Parts: sequence; C-alpha cells; structure tokens
Amino acid sequence: MTEPTTPGGGAPSSRTLVIIPTYDERDNLPGVVDRLLTAAPDVSVLIADDNSPDGTGEIADRLAAEDARGRISVLHRKGKEGLGAAYIAGFRWGLERGYTVLVEMDADGSHPPERLPAMLAAVDNGADLVIGSRYVPGGDVLNWPWQRHVISRGGNIYSRILLGVRIKDITAGYRAYRADALAELDLDTIESKGYCFQIDMTWRLLNNDRTVVEVPITFTERTVGQSKMSESIFREAAVNVARWGWEKRRRQLKALVGR
Ligand code: GDD
Ligand code: MN
Repeated sequence: MTEPTTPGGGAPSSRTLVIIPTYDERDNLPGVVDRLLTAAPDVSVLIADDNSPDGTGEIADRLAAEDARGRISVLHRKGKEGLGAAYIAGFRWGLERGYTVLVEMDADGSHPPERLPAMLAAVDNGADLVIGSRYVPGGDVLNWPWQRHVISRGGNIYSRILLGVRIKDITAGYRAYRADALAELDLDTIESKGYCFQIDMTWRLLNNDRTVVEVPITFTERTVGQSKMSESIFREAAVNVARWGWEKRRRQLKALVGR
C-alpha cells in the first residue's frame, strides 16, 4: 500500500472531486447537489451530462453559476454513451486537474451523500478504492422491487464465484478512488457500460494489487424519474465476467505448467 498522503501534504481527500453522471435527472439533480455540499462542503463536483433531452444540462449550468464558492463544474457531452463512458470522461477531467480522490455518485438520490465523509476517511486510511456497500453489515437497500434484489444479489454471487473475489457489493455505483490507482489504468481500454463498468473497474484495481474496502451505506431507490438499466446491460455483465474469470483461470494454469 502506498503512503496515503498527497504530494503537497495533507490527506488525499482534501482534493476530492465528486463526479455525478446525469441523463434526464432534472428533478433529482438540485436536491442531490445540495445534500452533497451540505454533507461535504469542501469537495468539488463535476456533473457529466450526456445532452439530456429534459434539460438537465442547463440546470447543471445554473447550479454551477449559483455556487458562490465555484465548486461545481459541468461536462457537456454530445449524447448518451452510457454510465461508463461518462465516468471515464469525468476521471480524465479530474486527473488532469490534480484531484487526489475521485468519487462516483448517482444523481437520483440513491447514494446518500451523508455517507461520503466515512468513505473519504477510509481512503485517507489507505484504501485505494472504497465501495459504498449495500451488502456488508450495516448496509441496506430500500424500496427495490424483488426482481432488482434478485438481479443484484445474483450478480454479486456470480462475480464472486467466477472471479474468485471476496467483495460483497462489486456492482455498487457509489465509490471513492484514489487518483493514483486510476492513473495507472489504461482508461482507453475500458469499454463496459452498465453495472459491468463497476465490476470492470474493481477487477482492474484488484489485478493491480490495490486495496479495496467496503463501507456500509443504505441505497434508497429513486422516487423520481427512471432507472436506465436494461437487459443489454445485464447481458454485458454476464458475458464479460465469465470471460474475465476464464482468462484468470487460463493465466493460473499457464503459470502452473510453466509456459
Ligand atoms: N451521463 C450519463 N450517461 N449518465 C447516465 C447514463 C448515461 O448514459 N445512464 C445512466 N446515467 C446516470 C443516471 O442519470 C444516474 O445519475 C446514474 O447514472 C445511475 O443511473 P440509474 O439508471 O439510476 O442506475 P440504477 O439505479 O439502475 O443502478 C445503480 O445501482 C447499480 C447497482 O445496483 C447504479 O449506481 C449502477 O452504477 C449500479 O451498478
Ligand atoms: Mn438509480
């Protein structure tokens, strides 16, 4: 584990960027940003909007203009390219500007901003990736239909078995990364779009011997707007996880027979 300090001194979390991807979140975004800046007043915020038809981008610009401390920026992207692509653009933006912790947070209020200080404390204690986890003691999910529970639990069990990892909530979308753990990844090669993006990122960090820590959160299903998850997103995860698991076994076998 590398020393949890920044080149300029101070805790890594003293320069934190929270990236919020948005697609049609007009009615959710202002409330989430407000809660976030109340819970963690010293973070910067980057809203990564994929040219939402409902005008979320303009609302984001307004929030940025209204924040007297200038903490909010907006990345206007051409069109809907998926959650993964929006986050990768956000990571690049943050790394270029020298942020030392980069956070992923949904715009729909499912990820409680009030838990961010606990997650950042875990980064400052040396974790490279902190997952806001629903499935460790103290974590919970509220208001999901039973089908979503089955998919989520099933996806986690599937990943744990095929990849051989111990993480309880590998698909979780509430995360804090140390910048140097992201900087050593080749972001160009990440093509996963949906839940799979979260698994992909975790898998890459684990393969780089980075430390992953889970901090309990309560995930509350959105009350306004719609989830963008789809069947193709589910399929993408199932196929990719099986492939990564297979590649791992092949690597192990090669090492064993010494070729
Ligand atoms: N810019 C952009 N482009 N944002 C997007 C896109 C896109 O194509 N698709 C979704 N988003 C944004 C949404 O506007 C929201 O802020 C966030 O990404 C999450 O999208 P949801 O559609 O609300 O996701 P979910 O609630 O079904 O899934 C959540 O839980 C999953 C695990 O159960 C997310 O946190 C997932 O990342 C997570 O894997
Ligand atoms: Mn959601």
